[in-house]
Amino acid sequence: MMIEKLEAGIFPERSELISLLESDTNDEELFECARETARKYYGNKIFIRGLIEFSNYCKNNCYYCGIRAGNKKLERYRLSDQEIIDCCRKGYDLGFRTFVLQSGEDPYYTDDILCALIKKIKKSHPDCALTLSIGERSRKSYKALFKAGADRYLLRHEAADEKHYRTLHPQELTPENRKKCLREIKKIGFETGCGFMVGTPGQTLDHIVSDLVFICELEPDMVGLGPFIPHEDTEYKNYPAGSLELCMRVLAVLRLMHPTLLIPATTALSTLDDDAQIMGIMAGANVIMPNLSPIAVREKYLLYNNKKYTDSEAAERLNEIRAKLTRIGYEIVVSRGDRINIKNV
Ligand code: 5AD
Repeated sequence: MMIEKLEAGIFPERSELISLLESDTNDEELFECARETARKYYGNKIFIRGLIEFSNYCKNNCYYCGIRAGNKKLERYRLSDQEIIDCCRKGYDLGFRTFVLQSGEDPYYTDDILCALIKKIKKSHPDCALTLSIGERSRKSYKALFKAGADRYLLRHEAADEKHYRTLHPQELTPENRKKCLREIKKIGFETGCGFMVGTPGQTLDHIVSDLVFICELEPDMVGLGPFIPHEDTEYKNYPAGSLELCMRVLAVLRLMHPTLLIPATTALSTLDDDAQIMGIMAGANVIMPNLSPIAVREKYLLYNNKKYTDSEAAERLNEIRAKLTRIGYEIVVSRGDRINIKNV
């Protein structure tokens, strides 16, 4: 009943959404409807993005994150422009047509430095999309990065509920600014991604419903979603990881509410279960983001403990995903993987 409502594009009552996320839901039915919805628009095609974690310096101290400024045990690194370009070239040869440059909030990267890097990458790969995932910046900065050629921007909103947001972050990081940045990013013209963790300490189903409402308001092109996983050098080291089951339900609900949304089956999911990314596809995800960072730096970009694939080459990882996807009737495509414009279908 509720599933039909979602499919019809009707925003349900908060209580209805909560009951859908609760454990007595018929998951099989929910996941099947979600994956059929993805199939309707994207067929059996899965998009890939090559993730390049180019700096683990961060000026922030988010309570959940392993690369927070206060983690003095962590050895910090920055990749050189040449190392980043090499990652892109390797990725290109493997069939990647989107590169995601991700880092902590590293003040070293001025607009000038970033714009020069963006131009270099776009010049060598004009047929590729470039995504930035480098945190909160000024509107002026976002504009400059867009003008330099960046196509997309990922900034997880982390928690739409303002009280919950404040329990996860130090005072200087505000939910208002986070949301303001996202609105600016979208207005400037980036394909925009927000997202949040499932199972952060203190999170309730009601908070998740607020995330779903926020996503409806923002209308992003992408939503990244994964379980919270504790990291031993953070304040939240003793909290349990988020539930895989709940992640899958949230993912499926998102798919039903936003049929053409780009939804990655995240690496954090596979930390909970080797097959969780495949389960994610079966619940409506349509993107996978393998790591293209040099293996030598992977262990230094641990946002959480037991992060997967820190020692496997992108090529190897890609073959593994490809084999698993084939078994369930999906295939990876060589494409920028832009969001489908529903008006054109
Ligand atoms: N567990 C799961 N995800 C995390 N992230 C940061 N720390 C953790 C953690 N401990 C997520 C945040 C961030 C993204 C890059 O990684 O949502 O936006």
